[in-house]
Amino acid sequence: MNREDFPILKNNIIYFDNSATTLKPKILVDTLSDYYMNYSANAHRGDYDISLKVDEMYEGTREFVKKFINAKSIREIVFTSGATDSLNKIIFGFFKYYLNEGDEILLSKAEHASNLLPWYELVEEKKLNLSYIDLDSNYCLTLENVKKAITNKTKVISLAHITNVVGDIRPIKEIIKYAHSLGILVLIDGAQSVPHLKVDVQELDCDFLTFSAHKMCGPTGLGIIYGKEKYLNNTHPIIFGGGMNASFDEEGVRVYKEIPQVLEAGTPNIADVIAFGSIIKYLESIGIEKISNYEKELKKYAVSKLKQIKDIIIYNDSTESGILTFNMRDVFAQDLAIYLNKYNICVRAGNHCAKILKNELKIKNTCRVSFYFYNTKEEIDKLVEVLSNPNLKNEII
Ligand code: ALA
Repeated sequence: MNREDFPILKNNIIYFDNSATTLKPKILVDTLSDYYMNYSANAHRGDYDISLKVDEMYEGTREFVKKFINAKSIREIVFTSGATDSLNKIIFGFFKYYLNEGDEILLSKAEHASNLLPWYELVEEKKLNLSYIDLDSNYCLTLENVKKAITNKTKVISLAHITNVVGDIRPIKEIIKYAHSLGILVLIDGAQSVPHLKVDVQELDCDFLTFSAHKMCGPTGLGIIYGKEKYLNNTHPIIFGGGMNASFDEEGVRVYKEIPQVLEAGTPNIADVIAFGSIIKYLESIGIEKISNYEKELKKYAVSKLKQIKDIIIYNDSTESGILTFNMRDVFAQDLAIYLNKYNICVRAGNHCAKILKNELKIKNTCRVSFYFYNTKEEIDKLVEVLSNPNLKNEII
């Protein structure tokens, strides 16, 4: 659907790498261009018309984000440089102060590096404990296994809502409910979920949620933190400078602003924040539920077709998101991606930044196809045709 909105699709490519980043619609470029051409002032600093317009547009996006994820207040929405930056800012700005020596963090082995490495650093720094929740035989996370992993030391659970290799939609609402009944906080990495399904932070009751604009047709270099106001109020800035202070003097006495500004030091990513506002309106005009249902349909279709190819091994045929991870017997994943590129088909190969999942999958590298709403069944047919090529292995060698 909406293929005509994406100028890049005129170049005859089949783009199946939407979990890495999505394509960009013309509305994004038009909104960026309008800012740079017509009112390119700074934010929160000027008393003249174009600067006031910037403030209105920049804060307007905050309001759109708030509504998109159903946060209670715009104070709960912070702009960052990406989901990785968002996770680091929460882990080092909030959890560093919240956790004490011996406290336990629960993660899973299917997490992306951005939801593992900052924790490893904090665990070392604060002498915390880290445990992994077991995955089931389909590499998915269940509430039952979360319950089994929790101990009386567990203080936080940090999980992707949808994982970027297995693509399981985790029972996050139930996990949060259970965790909260034991006083455990929950941080959700929504990088792969917010672009693809309705995420309502009040319904989920998550304590923090992070995501990126570029994985939902938006600009690169822009991420979002959602945090409950009571926790964001206790999140320390880890970047200091202009825009986040109310006053300071030569003795170093300083007063910082309130959330969200205290967590947005320096000139913000104005153009991209404003452009992201137009993207949220764009996605809403299509309908996020329509997007979810369509991706599920594409995934089912792709699984049924790929299963008919003799040498294809699928690792996640039962998961519901639009992520399909596979290999071809006796073919190195990256070689297969390079082969597909010859036919203008873009897929990702490797470990997909989930570097400890390989021990569970018992395979180091896989190919991944990940869908968005502009993909079609005809594109899947082309993939299947190219993968069914009887000369494929010869062409690779
Ligand atoms: N996290 C991105 C991916 O899964 C980059 O490809």
